[in-house]
Amino acid sequence: MNNQRILKLTEKYVARTYARFPVALVRGKGTRVWDANGKEYLDFVAGIAVVSLGHSHPAVVRAIERQARKLIHVSNLYHIAPQSELARELCRHSFANRVFFCNSGAEANEAAIKLARRYGGERLGGKYEVLSVHNSFHGRTLATLTATGQEKVRAGYDPLPPGFRQVPFNDLRSMEEAIDERTTAAILVEPIQGEGGVVIPDKDYLQGLRELCDRKNILLIFDEVQVGMGRTGKLFAYEHYGVEPDIMTLAKALGGGLPLGAMLAREEVARSFGPGTHASTFGGNPLACSVGLAVLKTLLQGGVLKNCVKMGKFLFHGLQELQRRFPSIREVRGKGLIIGMELEREGSKIVDDCLREGLLINCTAHKVLRFIPPLTIGKKDIEMGLAILEKVLARQ
Ligand SMILES: Cc1ncc(COP(=O)(O)O)c(C=O)c1O
Repeated sequence: MNNQRILKLTEKYVARTYARFPVALVRGKGTRVWDANGKEYLDFVAGIAVVSLGHSHPAVVRAIERQARKLIHVSNLYHIAPQSELARELCRHSFANRVFFCNSGAEANEAAIKLARRYGGERLGGKYEVLSVHNSFHGRTLATLTATGQEKVRAGYDPLPPGFRQVPFNDLRSMEEAIDERTTAAILVEPIQGEGGVVIPDKDYLQGLRELCDRKNILLIFDEVQVGMGRTGKLFAYEHYGVEPDIMTLAKALGGGLPLGAMLAREEVARSFGPGTHASTFGGNPLACSVGLAVLKTLLQGGVLKNCVKMGKFLFHGLQELQRRFPSIREVRGKGLIIGMELEREGSKIVDDCLREGLLINCTAHKVLRFIPPLTIGKKDIEMGLAILEKVLARQ
């Protein structure tokens, strides 16, 4: 089937929830993908920070093949070896003591919110409220879109569940003032906002939130769905800030392209989830978890994090160079290989033009071009991406 035929099928049969680009991607290898007409693209989107080892990384393919031959799925009624091992490894390399597995970022945040409510009920005298921040993104389930600080995500879904409020990001005083001693159970934030336009808070902010949570005896939840698993050059973004949360959520890159999410918590908090309190049929299944193990192992042993830091700097400087030449670029910001380039105007035309020139990038928060290539990317590919972007910017 060629692009046109696939586009027609999508238009006729698939729910209209996405504004898609007019290409169907059918194959990938490393930093490259090909559409159904055989055109090649350099991929600086990576499935929106999912395919962090690049497309069809041998370790991921091997794990899928091996595990598929052995056991693809069994219920969580039984113990699942790759799930237990992945939980151990995630705990070994983080602040956490226990992991709940699910299939997506929204589900991981839903689990975090539910755990915070149970903990609030049992240990904090019935507190239930979750405070989050403007411009955040936490998912599309009813609870997570209510926690999301973007009106457009919530529009049309009233009545929304109670127990959520938002305050400005990077503003400690607003957060402190918003805490209600009778109801607030937790604060939920992304250590770096991804969908909100790659917004990095002051170092003091996350440290201040930790102190605030300790002082007020409430939980701190970090949503690392987008920035966790090496994206910023450290395994978890919170490591840059010298603070640890009580709960953290992961998804996207965790499964190397397979649907896998996780909610990690400290033992004292995790205790509020007992048998029967939460569940997921597919969550933590053998196939997804064996791939998760392969991803984690490759990230930690294969020099990928070092490469992410090095290539992140290289890309950052290249984008800053463009900023000096094009006044339409307002700011370049980022950490590791999540970099945003804020423009004076809408970025969608640049994204369309880059696509035509064979470069996949993405625009978020209307004006921010987001660069989230595989963490395994090399200098040559970055130079090629920058050259395409420069050509497109010069034309506009
Ligand atoms: C920070 C953050 N949290 C949650 C989500 C939701 O993840 P999912 O689309 O897997 O439900 C996203 C998705 O972009 C995200 O960036």
